[in-house]
Amino acid sequence: MAKVQTKEEEIIPEQVKMEKEKKIKKSSKASEKTFLETIAGIGPTTRKRLEDAGYGSKEAIALATRSQLTDISGIAEKTASLLIREARARFDLGLKKATTYEEAAKTRVKLTSSSKAFDDLLGGGFETGSITELAGENGCGKTQIAHQLAINCVKYLDLDVIWIDTEGTFRFNRIVQIAKASEIDPEKVLARITVGRAYNSEHQMALTEEALTMVPNVGLIIVDSLMSHFRSEFAGRATLAERQQLIGKHLSFISKQAEILNCVGIVTNQVAAKPDAMFFGDPNKPVGGNVVGHTVTTRLMIRKGKATKRTATLTKNPELPDGKIEFAITSEGVRDHIK
Ligand SMILES: Nc1ncnc2c1ncn2[C@@H]1O[C@H](COP(=O)(O)OP(=O)(O)OP(=O)(O)O)[C@@H](O)[C@H]1O
Ligand SMILES: [Mg+2]
Repeated sequence: MAKVQTKEEEIIPEQVKMEKEKKIKKSSKASEKTFLETIAGIGPTTRKRLEDAGYGSKEAIALATRSQLTDISGIAEKTASLLIREARARFDLGLKKATTYEEAAKTRVKLTSSSKAFDDLLGGGFETGSITELAGENGCGKTQIAHQLAINCVKYLDLDVIWIDTEGTFRFNRIVQIAKASEIDPEKVLARITVGRAYNSEHQMALTEEALTMVPNVGLIIVDSLMSHFRSEFAGRATLAERQQLIGKHLSFISKQAEILNCVGIVTNQVAAKPDAMFFGDPNKPVGGNVVGHTVTTRLMIRKGKATKRTATLTKNPELPDGKIEFAITSEGVRDHIK
């Protein structure tokens, strides 16, 4: 990586540019045709439109719906059907024996949180292949956990990190501090994180799609935070349906890519007071409604305790029991809570 700059805005274009150049070099060296180039009748203009919308690969097209493709200007029904048929034929999306799921499960990897208690709650750590949501109030430590996971992704998985930052809370200094405490060269970590600073919801979706298509060897994608732009831009009831539709599209893209690329998906989320739970249980619930609740595979509620103490409650996972543990956010990052 080029010399590390102090301002995140200066790092982003440089990194993205380098990744793009790498990709261009790679494809020209290999002189292999991309999926779209092999489809007769798809010219450069259509190809560019599809690529710009995040549908440059057979994987993305195979998992798209026809209406997602026809939503892109200039893509007719017939073209969309042809592309999906071809992509699915080449991507082997047909019926499978249950034993193939065993194979897929074996390829899943767990990314450690740096707290044993936290990892135990998650059956070993944050799993690749799906989205885990971290929800909780301001200052509970969602962004801190994300910093630790980014470092651990480089250290233990030796893979790249995509960080979609919607609130300007990615901290170069915090990466350096936690990396040092985690005994890994901060320069090595920073070189493998691609940050996209998203200024509105549309930008957030576009950056996510671009990054997941362009960055090679992704082990972790973080969207911090998922809902902040959507909440401020789509305020009234009248726009709720549109907002939920866009969030659904955004999350299902991340979820599909997490599965295809076998990477960990992390979204952080805010909470709002539950109107009906004044005295019992957690008074807060994650925002974003059922769309978020259904699309994430794992849901964790984080709560702030005294000093460094935090709790994490697992409220949703298809194969783990619900549970609650204590952990700590320290200057060194995520750690076990010492009583
Ligand atoms: N260098 C540090 N050393 C120790 N603790 C720190 C350090 N930096 C941050 N923290 C802890 O993390 C907290 C901030 O957590 P974080 O930013 O992850 O919250 P969040 O859940 O992302 O909140 P928000 O919803 O506002 O984004 C601080 O209040 C502090 O307790
Ligand atoms: Mg935060």
